[in-house]
Amino acid sequence: MTSEFTVAEQAALTSGRDAWHTTPVESAGLPGVTVTDGPHGVRLQVDPRDILRGQPATCFPPAVATASTWDPGLLRRMGEALGDECRAMDVAVLLGPGINLKRSPLGGRNFEYFSEDPLIAGVLGAAWVDGLQSRHVGASLKHFAVNNQETDRLRVSADIDERTLRELYLSAFKRVVTQARPWTVMCSYNKINGVYASQNHWLLTEVLRGEWGFEGAVFSDWGAVADRVAAVAAGLDLTMPGPDDTGDAELAEAVAEGRLDPGLLARAAGRVRALVEKSAARTAGDYDQEEHHALAREIAGRAVVLLKNEAPQGDQQALLPLRAGADGPSVAVLGEFARTPRYQGGGSSQITPTRLDDALTEITAATDATVLFAPGYRVEEGPERDPAADEGDLVAEAAAIAQASDVALVFVGSTNETEGADRDGIDLPADHLRLVEAVAKVNPRTVVILSNGAVVATSPWDKAVPALIEGWLLGQAGGGALADVLFGRVNPSGRLAETIPLRIQDHPSYLDFPGEHGHVRYGEGLYVGYRGFDAREQEVAYPFGFGLSYTTFGYGQASASASAAGIEVRVPLTNTGGRDGREVVQVYVSLPGSKVSRARRELKAFVSVPVKAGETADVVLTIDRGDLAYWDTRVGRWVVEGGEYHCAVGASSRDLRTTAAVEVQGDDVRLPLTADSTLGEWFADPRGAQAVEQAFAALPGEDSGRMAALFANPTMMLFLSSTPLSRMATFPGSPLTAESIAKLVSAAND
Ligand code: GLC
Repeated sequence: MTSEFTVAEQAALTSGRDAWHTTPVESAGLPGVTVTDGPHGVRLQVDPRDILRGQPATCFPPAVATASTWDPGLLRRMGEALGDECRAMDVAVLLGPGINLKRSPLGGRNFEYFSEDPLIAGVLGAAWVDGLQSRHVGASLKHFAVNNQETDRLRVSADIDERTLRELYLSAFKRVVTQARPWTVMCSYNKINGVYASQNHWLLTEVLRGEWGFEGAVFSDWGAVADRVAAVAAGLDLTMPGPDDTGDAELAEAVAEGRLDPGLLARAAGRVRALVEKSAARTAGDYDQEEHHALAREIAGRAVVLLKNEAPQGDQQALLPLRAGADGPSVAVLGEFARTPRYQGGGSSQITPTRLDDALTEITAATDATVLFAPGYRVEEGPERDPAADEGDLVAEAAAIAQASDVALVFVGSTNETEGADRDGIDLPADHLRLVEAVAKVNPRTVVILSNGAVVATSPWDKAVPALIEGWLLGQAGGGALADVLFGRVNPSGRLAETIPLRIQDHPSYLDFPGEHGHVRYGEGLYVGYRGFDAREQEVAYPFGFGLSYTTFGYGQASASASAAGIEVRVPLTNTGGRDGREVVQVYVSLPGSKVSRARRELKAFVSVPVKAGETADVVLTIDRGDLAYWDTRVGRWVVEGGEYHCAVGASSRDLRTTAAVEVQGDDVRLPLTADSTLGEWFADPRGAQAVEQAFAALPGEDSGRMAALFANPTMMLFLSSTPLSRMATFPGSPLTAESIAKLVSAAND
């Protein structure tokens, strides 16, 4: 028991020994263990002076890319591989996955998060945790909660209503905690409605443990604790980084002075001890770097999203895939990103890769045709260039090569996603845009390939090119993966896990991001991402769930059936094209006529399905009943509303091919009738209507008739329906009194 430990030992256990280790307790033979970042590689710091340089490890695609696979099976395999690398580097806890929602495309860490939708974030996050923990390495689910911006992230209060908090921003965390049982959860820096996550008892104890049954340890984010005593009392177990001798002493003092229940300190220390002891079962391991690189390339290939693929002017067939043989087209590869890959974001997730594939080398290796290169623009990490050569020359040089080639591949993207800072816009850098325009002008067979950690504006420049690939940030094997897709060795099946808007001003979060003076208001409420665009029926550049393939798919009629467990949806899916492919079948649920405000439609199930050319698969998707519920703030619990649910099935949120309707039995939500309940509520509830009618019938003759006539008059009822019953006693001549209303209330609620 940790209570055998002295108070000082317990206090020391609740803070790190240093930035990356828990504190050992020699007297108990308890070692310290290593915790380090994730989430898309193992960043084991080798030089205390350089926090961002780590021991070489596989740099898998960041979450922005893996989310585009919509495939939990791939995330599980990535988690397993990360677990093996942790075993090889003696790491006990890998700090990930990051599952916060992408509330705005301006979010600086969007590259590290999965989606604007909580189902994707939850399902993929749970798979990542399952995979990692299958190797007896602990996850640290982060950042709990409502960390959706970098601006003022250590102090800002996310001011958010409870339905939005429950149904959107906590939803993915609940799914991962209850389904994958992460060993640890990492609290976020920010406040939620004015209370720091690190000392938020409601969040860390009542919800995380009380409602969701979490039994692991809660870590702080590094530097997130403002008050050690308040944090331990709220349910935070390990403050990082350490050491924090001052804070340890404050804890001991608080216990001595009776300001902190010693049981709470023992509880926190006990959870850290349990984590360390649990880690002891991990066996050392090794891994094959080439094998992991191959997995990184497979995942990256599945993450690529084909946004556009048309026949260039004068051609008969779509531009992609390119032919690979000597008879293939001569290819201009343009843009420094093709030679100097942009493959991950900045900050604590930055990995030192075991190797790094660039698209130029991989494209050259993929075809016997002529390949010519020009940088087109400069990047910081790029090779030194003649400073005299100005950008105009670079563009002219690239355009000349494009003009002399059959096909032009233009690599552009964003250059500024990092932890710690949000973006101020979504436009491509001006020099990248100039390159696209100059090349598209001289070569109708132009493909644009994007490398970006967060959404970039594709309109209007994408109108000028026949093919557009969203490559996100693809990790160390991205260069090879892009060559695989360009030359058709991989048939693209990536789908957007976030909307690409026409303009940032159209985004639902635009007016309330990133807030000011310590507060950010989640003014768009439930209407996050596609939920907002759909509610306002807004045009977008490319919708949530969208992505093309080198084949086509046909959907048969969907059917749906309801049971106590939820809804099952079935749909025949046919590969109607000429080559094998993979479709991500998506189910969006709506409840027409709902009594509460809801998004137009919400993603409630998805599956990535391989189908051979000409074949048909019977696809079955299930929706848990719990996923149909909304959070009813009147009664403080989840409620499934009864009614006819429409399950629309399709290839994106705006390409719904077939719909099945199904009746779902609702939960009984009996609100207690009170004197403050309105007349409308009293008459809508059979018990209430009966009690009121009986009371009025018992009134003296004239009064009874008068009241009966009043309530029989629909116009009067409309006028009075929003009046609380108690106010009826204040009207002159009203036969109702406070006493008679009190009797009514008890009669109705008995
Ligand atoms: C950071 C990040 C968190 C990371 C931690 C340790 O500031 O917010 O994601 O795991 O510190 O590097």
